[in-house]
Amino acid sequence: MKEPMIVDHPLIQHKISLLRNKATGTKEFRDLVNEIAMLLCYEATRDLPTEEVEIETPVSVARTKVLAGRKLALVPILRAGMGMLDGMLTLIPAAKVGFIGLYRDESTLQPVEYFCKLPSDIEERDVLVLDPMLATGGSASDAISQIKKHGARHIKFICLIAAPEGIEALHTAHPDVDIYIASKDERLNENGYIVPGLGDAGDRIYGTK
Ligand code: PRP
Ligand code: URA
Repeated sequence: MKEPMIVDHPLIQHKISLLRNKATGTKEFRDLVNEIAMLLCYEATRDLPTEEVEIETPVSVARTKVLAGRKLALVPILRAGMGMLDGMLTLIPAAKVGFIGLYRDESTLQPVEYFCKLPSDIEERDVLVLDPMLATGGSASDAISQIKKHGARHIKFICLIAAPEGIEALHTAHPDVDIYIASKDERLNENGYIVPGLGDAGDRIYGTK
C-alpha cells in the first residue's frame, strides 16, 4: 500500500496538539484548522509545475519561475471540510471551489450525501478534497467517487487526523489518490471516533455541541 504523506513539521504538530485539547474554544479551534490547512496546502502543492519567465526587476532582468498554469479545484466535504477552505485559498486564491455535503449516519457510520456542486470544468482540474477527519474512510471514499463521476482524474485528499482504518479503506477504494495528513492516530473506537483524535470536528469548528 502506498503510504500517506505525513506532514510532521513542528509548527503543524504544535497546532495539532492545541486542536486536540478539549479546553480549546471554538474560535481558536477554527483559526487553528485554517492555519494547519494552509501549511498542508504548501506541501500538497509541492509538485505543481513551473515555467521559466523573464521579469524586469528595478536592477536588471531576472530569469525566474512562475506556476505553469495547472488549474486547481478545492472541494471541502461539508461541514467540517469548510473549516479548511480559507486557509487553502490563502495560498491558492485562483482555485475554483466545489462542495460535497455528506454526514455519517450515527448508527451505521455510513455516509449520507445531501449536496454536490462542483466546478463545471472539474475534469480539467487537479482536485484537492478537504476534510479534517478520516475515520472509517466512508465519507472520503464516497466524495471522491462522486468527484470522479464528474470526470476528475487527478485527486489528492488532505486531512488533519486519520485513523489507520480510514487510510486503508480510502487507499483500497482509490489507490490513485495521494493522501496528505498531519497525524496518523492509533485507532477507531466502538463509536467510529478517532482515538485519541480531537472529538467531532464539525461540532468543534461551529460550536454545535
Ligand atoms: C465527519 C468528518 C468526516 C467524517 C469522517 O463528518 O468531517 O466527513 O465524519 O468519518 P468517516 O471517515 O467515518 O466517514 P460528520 O459526518 O460528523 O459531518 P459534519 O462535518 O457535518 O459534522
Ligand atoms: N468525525 C469526526 O469529526 N471525528 C472523529 O473522530 C470521527 C469522525
